[in-house]
Amino acid sequence: MKITVIGTGYLGAVHAACMARIGHEVLGVDSNPDRVSALAAGKPPFFEPGLDDLLSETLATGRLRFSSSLAEAAEFGEAHFLCVGTPQSTTSNAADLRYVKAAVSDLAPRLTRPCTVIGKSTVPVGTAQQLAERLRASAPAGDQVQLVWNPEFLREGFAIADTLEPDRIVIGTESPAGIAVMRELYEPMLAAGTPFISTDFATAELVKVAANAFLATKISFINAMAEVCEATGADVTQLAEAIGHDDRIGSKFLRAGLGFGGGCLPKDIRAFMARAGELRVDQALTFLREVDEINLRRRRHAVDLARICLDGHLAGRRIACLGAAFKPNSDDVRDSPALDVAAALQVEGANVRVYDPKAAEAGARDYPTLGFTATLDEALEQADLIMVLTEWEEFRAMDPTDVGRIVKRPAIIDARNCLDPQLWREAGWHYRGFGRP
Ligand code: UGA
Repeated sequence: MKITVIGTGYLGAVHAACMARIGHEVLGVDSNPDRVSALAAGKPPFFEPGLDDLLSETLATGRLRFSSSLAEAAEFGEAHFLCVGTPQSTTSNAADLRYVKAAVSDLAPRLTRPCTVIGKSTVPVGTAQQLAERLRASAPAGDQVQLVWNPEFLREGFAIADTLEPDRIVIGTESPAGIAVMRELYEPMLAAGTPFISTDFATAELVKVAANAFLATKISFINAMAEVCEATGADVTQLAEAIGHDDRIGSKFLRAGLGFGGGCLPKDIRAFMARAGELRVDQALTFLREVDEINLRRRRHAVDLARICLDGHLAGRRIACLGAAFKPNSDDVRDSPALDVAAALQVEGANVRVYDPKAAEAGARDYPTLGFTATLDEALEQADLIMVLTEWEEFRAMDPTDVGRIVKRPAIIDARNCLDPQLWREAGWHYRGFGRP
């Protein structure tokens, strides 16, 4: 099919390349001309494993192109995917829908032929219904333009695999015609046996936020257990392993540590609470406030532990902060717990040096006063304390004896519980994990 992907951020760029990979003719559209020219030259504007190769491969087939013209998109597409961002509003916990609304308002008057508009952005329940009405009212093709809501569940770092081999496809639609289009679009995935759930708009919108709320709750649950473990001398990593063997609980998303960040889980649970408030069911989601609070408490805990490790004084002490991205294999620093901690340490007077294999540039843009180093060794040099804040493989692979020769004091806080405590202690290090004795 001839499809367009409107918005080429972490979601849209990957979606466009993957749709071209499975045989569609794809036009990626973005209002940012620099992004368009980078993508057209096969250069992803962010780091996502495998995306550079996939872009080169699909651009070479001629099935993938990029443009900044919505008029061209409207002319070209039989199906238009909306992949623009819905960040947290700057004035409240609610989602900021301005980009979704602008995309629909700009596209609709240009839709003169029958087509399908497919929303993938994460939106508050009720949005799709409003957008469907807006589309019908302002598209010259009127009722011939149908809206489908098709939430995405990809994880950064695994975005290509999650798009090409999703664990489910969910669509919200008002008509059987919408189901048929989506079946055609995702034919290879459906042929491979991917579960396909077709429902109404509201359920599809809610599936997305419910899934993220559940994942956030699972992480905060294990982090709450970590707090109890810390008070009792128990080990949360063993506790997680033991409860994870129960199939009903499962071992995934039970890694205790610095907690969740990124452009999705934090803002999605807040937007969900805000929407519940508007719907007068805020009590149903009050527990998410606690989930958020437990999560943010982990960041403060990291700063407290640093202070304890440095005998009560952070001012003037050199701290090597390892990691800036919100998780490994990504250069995304949106709501990054790592950078939050680094900035808080700096505010208390510590001499902070941050190293990240991929996210230094993005980190320096958001936190211009933090010092970023080009190499791991530069960050470690003469450090009074090391803090592992993102579990990159480069940090997991550190040799405690080699690192011991570079730092000033052998003290390390493993805020992601990604190192082997025994190995580090045997090499003479003062090791502190999160929720571990
Ligand atoms: C998340 C969801 O996992 C995706 O399913 C969803 O599609 C996506 O949000 C979205 O809404 O677009 P993502 O933000 O890429 O994906 O990252 P996750 O792998 O979910 O990790 C989120 C955060 O939780 C990270 O900061 C990670 O370090 C943290 N985390 C994860 C833990 O602290 N412990 C865990 O056990 C797992």
